[in-house]
Amino acid sequence: MSIEPPQLLLSIQAQALIKSLSELQSEKFSGSVAEKKTQIFGKKGLFTQVSQLISEVNPTEKRLFGQWLNQIKTALELKLVTLSRQSTTQTSQDEEWIDWTMPGILPKTGHLHPVTHAIESITRIFEKIGFTRSRYPEVDWDWYAFEGLNMPANHPARDEWETFFVQTPPSSTKGKVVLTPHTSNGQVREMERLKSQPPIRMINIARCYRRQQDATHTQMFHQFEGLVVDKGINIQHLKGTLDYFAENFYGPGTKSRIRPFHFQFTEPSFEVDFSCHVCGGTGLIKDLEDPTGKRKCRFCKSGWHEVGGAGMVHPNVLKAGGIDPEKYTGFAFGWGVERTYTLKPGLQIDDIRLFYSGESSFLTQF
Ligand code: PHE
Repeated sequence: MSIEPPQLLLSIQAQALIKSLSELQSEKFSGSVAEKKTQIFGKKGLFTQVSQLISEVNPTEKRLFGQWLNQIKTALELKLVTLSRQSTTQTSQDEEWIDWTMPGILPKTGHLHPVTHAIESITRIFEKIGFTRSRYPEVDWDWYAFEGLNMPANHPARDEWETFFVQTPPSSTKGKVVLTPHTSNGQVREMERLKSQPPIRMINIARCYRRQQDATHTQMFHQFEGLVVDKGINIQHLKGTLDYFAENFYGPGTKSRIRPFHFQFTEPSFEVDFSCHVCGGTGLIKDLEDPTGKRKCRFCKSGWHEVGGAGMVHPNVLKAGGIDPEKYTGFAFGWGVERTYTLKPGLQIDDIRLFYSGESSFLTQF
């Protein structure tokens, strides 16, 4: 028995096909457009099923049914094509979507080595109070490194500067050649440069070399040396300069302290300390777990960090530089750049060898 067209259109498959079209048109359907396409036009798809029903149609109605099939096919195809275009542009947009407001990826750039940076800032600080940076040889004669500094040949004090000697014939007047063990070789050289005419306000920053290697020493390191010579220079000028440096390099409130010591080239001589910024110079840190409420500061252990030496220029050194010690007096100080830098607030580096390790993970922190 053949099915009449109205009844045919009432068939479950035809109804489902009509429903699919209206879902597509209202764009309210579950699944993807591609899934919908196979549901309708696939081998066992709805349209395929409905179009097979044609064999059951009354011959007189066949044309009408064929027309209806064509119409619904066109409508379905058209909608599917539009929807699939929309969805592909949507996904390709998703893939290529760029947030222009996102911060970019910065290319890696280098920066100055922390020691170079420290040298620059030390220079700026002293330049502000009238010091001029001088450069003197890092391979120098014994005369400038020792003898001219009131340390005659074989003087036991020389042992403190674990010196490297260069195997080269000595000068008849200036002696052996050494790798400078300190920047104090610049003292007599600066007096000579200024033709023994004070005022002198020198800052000499250079590489130094000593036979020492441990957490606080490297065989090559840097020192900075201050030298001031003029009429009426006294210890107060030295102390004021040290305080000025402490405040400007480490921050407000940092104090300097001088303690009696001995150097052949200064008299009186001192060791220079700076107050510890971790405990504020008290040597104690608040610790509620300790019964006393305080514990020793682990960074300084005493409230102070020893940094270097200083003193009033010895008359013999002035004489070696051709300056009359009866008319002029001066002060000098000198110590390591690396050590000075490691004490900066926030750094607290306890092994200066890291500076020369070439470890980029260490160096990129600065
Ligand atoms: N040259 C001394 C050292 O290397 C430091 C110093 C410099 C001391 C100037 C006094 C005056 O230890």
